[in-house]
Amino acid sequence: MRNKIVAGNWKMNKDLSATADLIADLKRAMPETEAEVMIAPPFTNLYNAFESLSQSPIEVVAQNMHQAESGAYTGEVSAPMLKSVGINTVILGHSERRAYFGEDDKLLSAKVDTALKNDMRVIFCFGEELEDRKKEKEFEVVAGQLKNALFHLKKEDWSSIVLAYEPVWAIGTGETASPEQAQEMHAFIRKTIADAYDQELADSISILYGGSVKPNNAAEIFSQPDVDGGLIGGASLNADDFMAIVKAI
Ligand code: 13P
Repeated sequence: MRNKIVAGNWKMNKDLSATADLIADLKRAMPETEAEVMIAPPFTNLYNAFESLSQSPIEVVAQNMHQAESGAYTGEVSAPMLKSVGINTVILGHSERRAYFGEDDKLLSAKVDTALKNDMRVIFCFGEELEDRKKEKEFEVVAGQLKNALFHLKKEDWSSIVLAYEPVWAIGTGETASPEQAQEMHAFIRKTIADAYDQELADSISILYGGSVKPNNAAEIFSQPDVDGGLIGGASLNADDFMAIVKAI
């Protein structure tokens, strides 16, 4: 069936030496697990992280990439560049990219296409804002994000897609979706994919939850039938916390 995944999104944290320290701690604390375990350090540390984890099951992934493969895009990093330093998976569509860097569904759709063209796996993030939930529009918003960015994909493309539902109101706020809220949305996401494609495809997609996952709430969230793991922000910056979350899967 579908894979269990726990991924740590380090965001803009950890310089080179702090990255080396955290990776050493992660290697020491890594438990036996059936889950895929990933970390996403900043661009500057990807190659070092990849090299130091070459003998480890922990995969190093990128937090973002540009939709073009090369060219006059000052300050940007492309899929072929990531591949050249050993990175085969990229997080796209994080709410911070959407909110602070103006990334919309159309742009994300182009980024997804470029990632797939370069044989990269995508962890695609999406989720409603607090205002949407207050207006009871969370299902509409989430369905729209999926449709606009992903539903042009062919069925076979989906073997390279992991979904990460991250309600914006739960990111970095300490406020987590309740296990029931997470399950309700994950089941809705799976049904939306089943309606657009088919049930077999929907059942094969790993859907991660992200938003204030901590060692003390991970097990309950992960126990939900449609929650296949987590995308972890703050708690991924501490090896013991992150590995406690890995153990909770
Ligand atoms: P927190 O776990 O810090 O809420 O962040 C979640 C997140 O944005 C992961 O991508």
